[in-house]
Amino acid sequence: MSEINLLIPGPTPLPPEVMRAMSRPMTSHRGPAFGRIMREILDGLGEVFQTRSDIIPLVASGTGGLEASVVNFLSPGDRVLSVNNGHFCERYAEIAERFGARVDRVTAEWGRPVPAEAVAARLREDTRREYRAVLVTQSETSTGVHNDVRAVREALADHPALLMVDAISSLGAIPLETDGWGVDVVVTASQKALMSPPGMAFLSVSERAWEAAERATGPRFYFDLRRGRAEARKPHPGTPFTTAITVAYAVHAALGLIHAEGLPRVFERHRRMARMVRAGVRGMGLHTLVDDEHAVNTVTTVRVPDGVDGRAVGAHARDRYAVLLGSGIGRLEQAIVRIGHLGYTRQEWLLAGLEALGRTLADLGHPVRTEAGLRAATDSLEAPAPL
Ligand SMILES: Cc1ncc(COP(=O)(O)O)c(C=O)c1O
Repeated sequence: MSEINLLIPGPTPLPPEVMRAMSRPMTSHRGPAFGRIMREILDGLGEVFQTRSDIIPLVASGTGGLEASVVNFLSPGDRVLSVNNGHFCERYAEIAERFGARVDRVTAEWGRPVPAEAVAARLREDTRREYRAVLVTQSETSTGVHNDVRAVREALADHPALLMVDAISSLGAIPLETDGWGVDVVVTASQKALMSPPGMAFLSVSERAWEAAERATGPRFYFDLRRGRAEARKPHPGTPFTTAITVAYAVHAALGLIHAEGLPRVFERHRRMARMVRAGVRGMGLHTLVDDEHAVNTVTTVRVPDGVDGRAVGAHARDRYAVLLGSGIGRLEQAIVRIGHLGYTRQEWLLAGLEALGRTLADLGHPVRTEAGLRAATDSLEAPAPL
């Protein structure tokens, strides 16, 4: 495969250290050598999740992690509230429904946040305290909206529902204080800000969620997190079944990089890259789908000009300029393209991506101010650091 500038919001490019780690020889997933690596992974992830709770590794993509949270912490017939403003929020809601939960949705137009007050109002209406969980997707990768997990936690107030967060495209890129904010379940995956290949999901689980797992009545086997907990609490843990050893090597190396950079600097880097991309897009005369106040620092969603099909933009940028942009998803398929800037990103790759976007639009007969956009993007790097 020829070199391609991979600018989709996951899987992301891999740092050289991660690539090298993956060439280590195969080993036993039950042996002490691998157990030491897994111990360091789980301890390192505790820092990234900002929690002292158990971290449970799974061999699955992110969706497997979401399904695990549903089958362990919910039972058929449970009422659930879904904070719902995009494709991935809806996926989480659908998984819960498929396993028999009765899901209510508090919605917003795609590209807009769900007001925390609307969530609070729905929870206040639940005077019998029937909701067992509130589901929220922190970085709604389909629209580029940042859903404010802390505000949802505050909206819960003293409601006993578990707060379960899809942080698949956000953990390790933007702040998520699992313990500090009081989040019960956080799900993430290896191929996003953890700068590793796809193949593993990780969940943090609060004591309250473990209590729910004991009460849950639905069947579960591969995804029974209690088996994972027994492993995770060993000095040299593994997973209950065969681990994705090579992916684990990658995550181990990536966590070393995150630790060396320091989480605050990692978040700051994501803020800078996001700001640069947005400045570039606007400098070209294009519009973002999401206003800056609610835009997430992991992906920027760009409206394509009227009369252009986002799918054609993506295909042309790929075939002509070797740049892979994310396509729109679901109802936004034709309206937007997405530029991922999470995990291992470099400003020169993003600038090349912006240039390819501008040139593509010109090639398709809709010229934009590509040079002005690139200048605006680089100028934004000189501006004082955003808060
Ligand atoms: C927010 C979010 N949730 C869920 C998923 C699904 O994860 P996976 O494709 O790893 O199953 C994604 C993937 O892009 C995502 O961004």
